[in-house]
Amino acid sequence: MIKILLVGGGGREHAIAHAISRSKRTYQLFAVMSKKNPGIAGLCEDFLINAETDVDKVTEYAVKAGIDIAVIGPESPLAAGLADALDVAGIPSVGPKRAAAKLEFDKAWTRSFMAKYGIAGLPEFRIFDKTQEEAALRYVDELGDVAVKPAGLTGGKGVKVMGDQLPDRDAAKAYVNELLAGDVVVIEENLKGEEVTVHAFVDGSHLAFTPSVQDHKRAYEGDLGPNTGGMGSYNDAGHLLPFMNERDYEEAKQIMKDVVARVREETGVEYRGILYGQFILTANGIRVIEFNARFGDPEAMNVLPLLETDFIDIVQAVTTGTLDTIDVRFAAKASVCKYAVPAGYPENPTKDAPIQAGDTGDALLFYSSVYEKDGVVFTTGSRAAAVVGIADTIKEAEQIAEQALNNLEGPLECRHDIGTQALIQKRVDHMKSLRG
Ligand code: AMP
Ligand code: GLY
Repeated sequence: MIKILLVGGGGREHAIAHAISRSKRTYQLFAVMSKKNPGIAGLCEDFLINAETDVDKVTEYAVKAGIDIAVIGPESPLAAGLADALDVAGIPSVGPKRAAAKLEFDKAWTRSFMAKYGIAGLPEFRIFDKTQEEAALRYVDELGDVAVKPAGLTGGKGVKVMGDQLPDRDAAKAYVNELLAGDVVVIEENLKGEEVTVHAFVDGSHLAFTPSVQDHKRAYEGDLGPNTGGMGSYNDAGHLLPFMNERDYEEAKQIMKDVVARVREETGVEYRGILYGQFILTANGIRVIEFNARFGDPEAMNVLPLLETDFIDIVQAVTTGTLDTIDVRFAAKASVCKYAVPAGYPENPTKDAPIQAGDTGDALLFYSSVYEKDGVVFTTGSRAAAVVGIADTIKEAEQIAEQALNNLEGPLECRHDIGTQALIQKRVDHMKSLRG
């Protein structure tokens, strides 16, 4: 019998709980989540409703429950040092200690780290603090076309890019000024291309990679509107996306391997957990947009259901440094994940509205930012629930997801274009036009 604690209550964590529930091992699942996610609650022995960043409370709960392994879903408890505290209590985590999780929560540190060790995929960048305002504005002029990033955690919503959220150079400078008041700012070249997510399970030295996934950050169809945590995502049967080649995937993997090795060298801490690499394929080769220290949400909902290897065997191997002894395999299937979000999301979302999932057919349903009260599921201000279609082709998977969306009731919206042939062709054409 193995006791597992899952920390987090979103769609990503529901997908992790679902992966655990498919295990052939004898196990008990416990959870700590800030709101009662009905999908996770239904798969658990016991759960605690509590802030996931409350390191003392989570550790106390884990010790009392006799937990063998903790799986930490979101970034905020990693940044709060939960893996460190659990380690002191003798409980290993899937999720890096704070020093290694810096890869996600300090973008300035990560860019400097990549530069120091000559890790491939680094864009032109510089880092500025509030004493360097003039130099920062000059650098915007020097690069001409920029992305502006606060160094700290922003849930994927603090980055602004010229031509998107920043109409021109003056707007970019104004945003630099605004950010400098409160944080260190990273200014980097505006990279043009197609974005790709690759995850790896990491045990300190070995990495086991997932298939590539593409997320859709923009809120509205046609890639318009504000950035979100991600409105939906897809993968193709096999490990490449339709616009990728083998070399892109190999380069992404090599960058992630180098990062893991160098993090140990730089921090003295072994990276154990999930490493999320977000890449952009450009005319000049692959570049790193960012690393995260956890699964992507929604991307976890694509890849975890495809796992053929027992998830509990994998997490055990992650915590014992023995990932090289197991074969981490994924079914060669395509999947399409679409998020249903409260009407008006993200600017003016309908909160506390009841929603209901009818028969979702062949699709999987994962609850995200909702809460259950007296058997009724309510929206919060954030992404509510996702459906995932799985099939031999993206086209079939997309249709399965669409059918399932028809049976979600409540004031919900989604991006119907995700995974459609038209949007995928647009990605393929875009990549072709860049690479010639
Ligand atoms: P992040 O929070 O780092 O994931 O950034 C959010 C989004 O901003 C990414 O998904 C990209 O679309 C975009 N982005 C970040 N950095 C750059 C860059 N250097 N050039 C162009 N787009 C970027
Ligand atoms: N879907 C992007 C992320 O989880 O960061």
